[in-house]
Amino acid sequence: MTTTKTLRVKVDRGRCQGHARCLALAPELFEPDQFGNGHERGDGVVVRALEEKARLAQANCPELAITIIEE
Ligand code: F3S
Repeated sequence: MTTTKTLRVKVDRGRCQGHARCLALAPELFEPDQFGNGHERGDGVVVRALEEKARLAQANCPELAITIIEE
């Protein structure tokens, strides 16, 4: 049995104001939508190698729009 958790990033579209720090810090995890607001790529799953970038992006979003879900 493995106890490794899966991490996902999620952008709250109601909070995001398009500061784009997530896009600069972790382009592997976030992409701009048609309005230039950040959106998680695909299903938002964060591979272990990108975990630190995910936390950096979360910490640097001025709108606190990024959530990291551990499941
Ligand atoms: Fe939006 Fe925050 Fe990224 S405001 S574009 S989620 S840095």
